[in-house]
Amino acid sequence: MYLLGIESSCDESSASIVKDGKEILSNVIFSQVQDHERFQGVVPEIASRLHLEKINGIIDEAFSQANLNFTDIDAVAVVYKPGLIGSLLVGLATAKSFAYCYDIPIIPVNHIEAHLYAPHIEHEIPFPNIGLVVSGGHTLIMLSKSHTNHEIIGSTVDDAVGECFDKVAKHYELGYPGGPVIDRLSKAGDDDAYRFPRAKFKKGNAFNFSYSGLKTAVIHQTEKFKVKNDSNSMEDLLASFQKSAMETLLEVCKEALNQYELKDIVISGGVACNSYLRETFTKEKDLNAFFPSPMLSTDNGAMVAGLGYHLYREGIVADLSLNAHSKIIKQGRPV
Ligand code: KG4
Ligand code: ZN
Repeated sequence: MYLLGIESSCDESSASIVKDGKEILSNVIFSQVQDHERFQGVVPEIASRLHLEKINGIIDEAFSQANLNFTDIDAVAVVYKPGLIGSLLVGLATAKSFAYCYDIPIIPVNHIEAHLYAPHIEHEIPFPNIGLVVSGGHTLIMLSKSHTNHEIIGSTVDDAVGECFDKVAKHYELGYPGGPVIDRLSKAGDDDAYRFPRAKFKKGNAFNFSYSGLKTAVIHQTEKFKVKNDSNSMEDLLASFQKSAMETLLEVCKEALNQYELKDIVISGGVACNSYLRETFTKEKDLNAFFPSPMLSTDNGAMVAGLGYHLYREGIVADLSLNAHSKIIKQGRPV
């Protein structure tokens, strides 16, 4: 079964063709990062206009790379939530037109659920498992029972971890998005130069995260958290920040794995590209961490088409009245 997957929830326009949920025939991604860079963040109006400009060409390219015709597609999967509403609407309208023209089903895909699916394209991962989605907009921890059954067990109470990287980078004028720059610069730094705070919640909320305190500390209170007085480099500051941010993720995930007596953890979303995060989780003896390759970690259509296959098999199909939603929980299944 061939599915076309369309993703346009934020600042990446992507179209992909995937066979039977696993075999990627094409995965074309157009990133708008350069267009938002000078604003140090995504400008929603610019994002939706660029999606509109690019989406048809991206779809054509996905078909050309897969060497297929429009009539070969069995269903079109599209992200309808959560995300920037104007951006989502472009992908959704495109998917509806395609489905209408070729008389094929539309599969409604939740962006978060698609991120969780991404590592399954490349690995065999047993269920149940713990899922961690870390991106510019989300920091969510989930108990996953199947590709389509996830329960949110914790989330950030303020900033998302990727947002925290972006804001720290913005403050120090390091460029946008902040994650990749901080990851790169941190390699030359001493991550013990500062001991930044690690937010911890009490029992009952033990799987929640908070990143605004860390952000404030790294931006406004660096002297207070300095451990090595002779350390003045930006690299040391960033490496120490990155360590604190990532160790918090590890601690909470270990607690969740422990409580649910599980060993397998799926980590996805843009921040899953972080090299320190990958190393830290991979080194841990008592858990098996599964990451998608970097191209499947950030927003892409392959994770949408891949998950769409499983949703379709479970009879989860939409009609032309499908609408976009900016939030995770608004309509339909929570995740
Ligand atoms: O999943 P994604 O592409 O888009 C959203 O849905 O948000 O994630 C983008 C986020 C940005 O905040 C970016 O700074 C962060 O992922 N990111 C990273 C790295 N690469 C991207 N954060 C830390 N380390 C990285 N290597
Ligand atoms: Zn995303």
